[in-house]
Amino acid sequence: MQRRHRRRCVSFSRYGDAEEEEARVEERKEEEGGEGGFCYAAWRNVSGDILLERQGCWVHDCRGRSKCVESSSNPFVYFCCCDRDLCNVDFARRPRPHEVTQQPTPVARPVPTPVTLLSVTTPLLLLLLLPLSVWTYRRCRKLTHATTPPQEAVSLTALLPPLLLLDLRAGGRFGCVWRAQLLSEVVAVKIVQTVNQRLWQNEVDIFVTPGLSHHNLLQFIGAERREGNAEPEMWIITTFHERGSLCDHLKGSTLSWHELCHVGETLARGLAHLHRHMHGGKPAIAHRDLKSKNVLLRSDLSAVVADFGLALKLQPDCPPVDIPRVGTLRYMAPELLEGAICLQSDAFLHIDVYALGLVLWEIATRCMSSGGMLGEHRAPLVDEVGERPTLDELRHFVVDGNGRPAIREAWLKHPGLSQLCVTMEECWDQDAEARLSAHCVEERLAQLRTDPGLPAGSGGGGGGSGGTTAAPPPTTKAFSLGLLKQASLGLTGQALLGLTEQPPLGLTGQSTAG
Ligand code: ADE
Repeated sequence: MQRRHRRRCVSFSRYGDAEEEEARVEERKEEEGGEGGFCYAAWRNVSGDILLERQGCWVHDCRGRSKCVESSSNPFVYFCCCDRDLCNVDFARRPRPHEVTQQPTPVARPVPTPVTLLSVTTPLLLLLLLPLSVWTYRRCRKLTHATTPPQEAVSLTALLPPLLLLDLRAGGRFGCVWRAQLLSEVVAVKIVQTVNQRLWQNEVDIFVTPGLSHHNLLQFIGAERREGNAEPEMWIITTFHERGSLCDHLKGSTLSWHELCHVGETLARGLAHLHRHMHGGKPAIAHRDLKSKNVLLRSDLSAVVADFGLALKLQPDCPPVDIPRVGTLRYMAPELLEGAICLQSDAFLHIDVYALGLVLWEIATRCMSSGGMLGEHRAPLVDEVGERPTLDELRHFVVDGNGRPAIREAWLKHPGLSQLCVTMEECWDQDAEARLSAHCVEERLAQLRTDPGLPAGSGGGGGGSGGTTAAPPPTTKAFSLGLLKQASLGLTGQALLGLTEQPPLGLTGQSTAG
C-alpha cells in the first residue's frame, strides 16, 4: 500500500504543550500504519479577537482541501483541516451567504497571544468545547439547510466530525460504549438507542447539575443527538477509563488488602458526593442502579461511579413519594423488592447504600489477603438464588428470610476484613434507616486503609492484580466544564420516574440477570 508522505504542519498550542500533542499524534499515526498526514487549526473568536487554540497534525481524513477553511457560522471553537504541507499556517472562516465577501475571510496569520487569564484553563478546554461546537454546528445546519444555496450545503456537510469511534468497549440493552478519539484525546462515547431516550435525557440532566463534578464520578464532556443510519442516536461523551468496569476487573484480577480498601473508599467517596446536598448548590442525588458494572476503575484503581441513566435528584423536605421499582434486581434492597410505597426522599439513599454493601462484598470475594481459597468472581447472591432469580425468588430470600451474601470464615480471621464485614452488614441492614451513610462508609474504609495495625498485605495475601498498587488519587484534571454546563444543551431539568429498562429493571418487576 502506498504511504502518504509525512505532512509538515505548523504546530502551536497556547497551553504550551504543542510538542506533547504532536508526540501523541505521531503515536496515533504509527498505530494507523503511518497514514493520515493532514494539518489542522482550531481557534475561537472572542468579541472579534481571534484566539488561536492549537495548530498541528491531524490524523483523520481531510483529503481534497488545500486550504484550512471553517464553514460553520458560529461555533464555540472554529476548526479546519487541510492536506497540503503547512496549509494550516493560514486559516479562515467561510462567510455565510448573507455576509458580503466572496473569498473566505482570512482570520490572520496567528501570533501566539500573550498569556491571559483564560490561558490558565487546561488544554482540555478545547477538547471539551469541540463536541459542543459540533453539536451547535449541526443544529445550525439543520436549521439552515432549507434556505442555504446548494454549494453552501455541500461545504457544510463535508465538515470533518472531530469525533472518531475506535472500538466497542461495552454493550448492553441500553446501548453501547465506544472508545473514541477527540482530537488527540481518547474519550468514551455512550450510544443510547432512541427507545431509551429518556435514560439519555435523564443522564445528561444529572451530568449538568451544578456542583456534581467529582474525582470519583464519571466526568461529562458533552452530549448530542446524532442522525444515525436508521434512526437517531443519543450520544454521551465522557472521559475514558482503560481498565473498564469494577465487575470486569474482579473477573480478571484479584486485589490486595490495600487495593480493596482503596477501591472501596473511593467508591464510597463518589457515592457520598452524589448523595450530598449542598445548601444553595447541588441537590442530593440517588444513583438507583449501583452495581459493580456501573463502577469504572482508573489506572490507580480509584473508583469512578458511572451510569446516571436512572439517577434521581431529591428535593429536601418533600412529602413521601411512591418508589418505583427501578434498578437491577440482584442489587435491590428489601424495601424495593417488597414493593414499598410512600417513602421519604432519604429512602432512595438508603437503597443505594444497600447496593454499596453488596459491591463491598463482591470486592472482598476477590481479596487475596483473606488467605482462603479464591474462586472466580461471582455476582452477589448467585450462590443463594442462582444466576437468574425471579422477583419472587429474591423477595423470598432477601425479604422473608432476611438473607444476604455469605460472609466467609476466612474473612473473620483477617483483622481488616472482619471489620469490613461489620461495615457491609451495616450497609445492608433490613431496617433501611439503620444503614450507614455513604460518607460513613468512606470514613470507615479510610480508617481501615491507614490503620497501622493492618499493614498492606496483612493476612498473608499481597498485590493480586499484577503489581498494581493503590496510589493516592492524583489531583483531578481541572476540566473546564463550566461553559459546557452553562450552555446546558437546552435540556429540561426533568426527573425521570418509571423507566422500563431491562436490565436495569423497570416498573414491571420482572427478573433480570443483574
Ligand atoms: N464503559 C462504560 N463507560 C466507560 C468509560 N467511560 N470508560 C471505559 N469503559 C467504559
